[in-house]
Amino acid sequence: MCGIIGYIGDRPACEVIVKGLKRLEYRGYDSAGIVTEEGGRLYIKKGAGRIDELAEKLGFLEMPGKRGIGHTRWATHGVPNDSNAHPQTDCSGEIALVHNGIIENFAELRGELLGKGHTFKSDTDTETIAHLIEEELKSSSNFEEALRKALKRLKGSFALGIIYTGEPDRLYFVRNESPLVLGIGDGETFAASDIPAFLEYTNRVVFLDDGEYAVITMDSYVVKKLDTGEVVEKSVQEITWTLEMAEKAGYPHFMLKEIHEQPRAIKDAIHGNREIIRGIAEEIANYDRIIFVAMGTSYHAALVGKYLFQRLAKKVPIVEEASEFRYEFEDLIDDRTLVIAITQSGETADTLAAMKLAKKKGAKVLAVVNVVGSMATRIADLTLYTHAGPEIGVAATKTYTTQLTVLTMLAIELARIIGTASEEHLRRLEEELIRTPELVELALKHDGALRELAEALMDSRDFFYIGRGVGFPTALEGALKLKEISYIHAEGLSAGELKHGPLALIEDGVPVVAIAPSGKTFEKMVSNIEEAKARRAFVIALGDSKKLEKVADVFIQMPEVDELLTPIPYVVPLQLLAYHLAVLRGNDPDKPRNLAKSVTVE
Ligand code: AGP
Repeated sequence: MCGIIGYIGDRPACEVIVKGLKRLEYRGYDSAGIVTEEGGRLYIKKGAGRIDELAEKLGFLEMPGKRGIGHTRWATHGVPNDSNAHPQTDCSGEIALVHNGIIENFAELRGELLGKGHTFKSDTDTETIAHLIEEELKSSSNFEEALRKALKRLKGSFALGIIYTGEPDRLYFVRNESPLVLGIGDGETFAASDIPAFLEYTNRVVFLDDGEYAVITMDSYVVKKLDTGEVVEKSVQEITWTLEMAEKAGYPHFMLKEIHEQPRAIKDAIHGNREIIRGIAEEIANYDRIIFVAMGTSYHAALVGKYLFQRLAKKVPIVEEASEFRYEFEDLIDDRTLVIAITQSGETADTLAAMKLAKKKGAKVLAVVNVVGSMATRIADLTLYTHAGPEIGVAATKTYTTQLTVLTMLAIELARIIGTASEEHLRRLEEELIRTPELVELALKHDGALRELAEALMDSRDFFYIGRGVGFPTALEGALKLKEISYIHAEGLSAGELKHGPLALIEDGVPVVAIAPSGKTFEKMVSNIEEAKARRAFVIALGDSKKLEKVADVFIQMPEVDELLTPIPYVVPLQLLAYHLAVLRGNDPDKPRNLAKSVTVE
């Protein structure tokens, strides 16, 4: 939530910052602001609204100076308006800062500072930090000391970018439970919440860890510990992502581009893990108490993981939303527990908290992550990367299918080690997994038909998605995609549950999307479709059997594949249907209302 970009170098800072903000807009987009400095004076422009509108209205690109910081906001404290937009300043106007996260004890600190005569201009928790540094400066020998003293008093999560007129050659960036990465250029230095913000200029990065801060100048950076001020040696990593990967490449939206990138992403996930999957599977094969933790779409991947582990490795994992796990499982984990955390961003606050709890209790933690170097990878004992490349659209698409790919590889390898499935079966599954990029290509061919379907259904008030077995998480994921970008109410259900209540909601013309691949439960799915049809539902069936053509109103022909692999191609038409419905209803699918790509607060 919220995006930060900072620059110090020889270019006009405002240009670098505006470009960076546009690339960070997926993190939050209810308001934005920039501070630059020239001649010992701070220039601040900020307001509620989207970056492009604000850049034009406020003249972001006319701001002077070669150092500055920008921010795009997803409101936590204080409604999105001009005064609550960041940067926030102290009373003197010499300190300006931007913030991503939540300061839990801000009310108490604000009360104390008001008592000392500070005046506040916003309702944000962020402004408190600027005044706190100002207050500490009165009794400190330099700004850095004041900064450290102030930050020690904060409770909560924060990534900060700070500029001070008294030190014209530097910027400060702080990380505590919210992401921050430095970009090391030639005679210029960057800092941002995420790499694409500065990838145009450099691919050399330094990841900050929790409890660290960086002092950057145009040609240097130093990282120190917040509590002691001790210097921390950091290595520079080279990122292989290209800028094109983080841009739209001719597609009208990132989401559509990312849906179409899935065949390539799945191939990369397979190739990227082929060599290491055996070693990881060996490390976890002996664990019998396995708990998957994740949120949102990653939680749906975890549910698919559960079916894969059950059917192939004969393990029965628990799947918990990370937000529930952290409060319910404290006494239920120990060093015989394996926790598998799935998170595309590697920054989801609840998932990180669950991982930390698991580590504290002695559990082994395996992370399945997309963003290289993200916090999850540093907490985990073991990491499997999904290699999907940057995903900018808020709705997860290619990161989901690559999570499924990696989990399938892991389940196959576990089954091989434990001996719970025949080698012939496992080989066949591996061959079919290698074919999934082609199957996704076939699923993408339904795009035109799905757009027409979306036109017919764009005024529907409710959608129901039903599935059984591995088709159940697919139903949940289809419903989530629809809700988050089209704002149509949708429910994902296990098809067996339909008769236990939800069937009462089915009336004339209500769309019911049935995930019905051939396999164990196909006939049962056909019965459920008929039950819905008998209540005059409008049934859209996804499957490989022609039988569906007769029972459903719309049949989406899917390629034949082992039932265990169906979650990968079957989600694709559901992503496209949600995308078209969102666009037809006038929504921006890349930036759905009220949501942000990474949920870095609880
Ligand atoms: C999915 O479309 C959502 N954007 C959301 O549910 C997301 O999957 C969830 O917030 C978890 O994110 P993570 O994978 O980065 O941890």
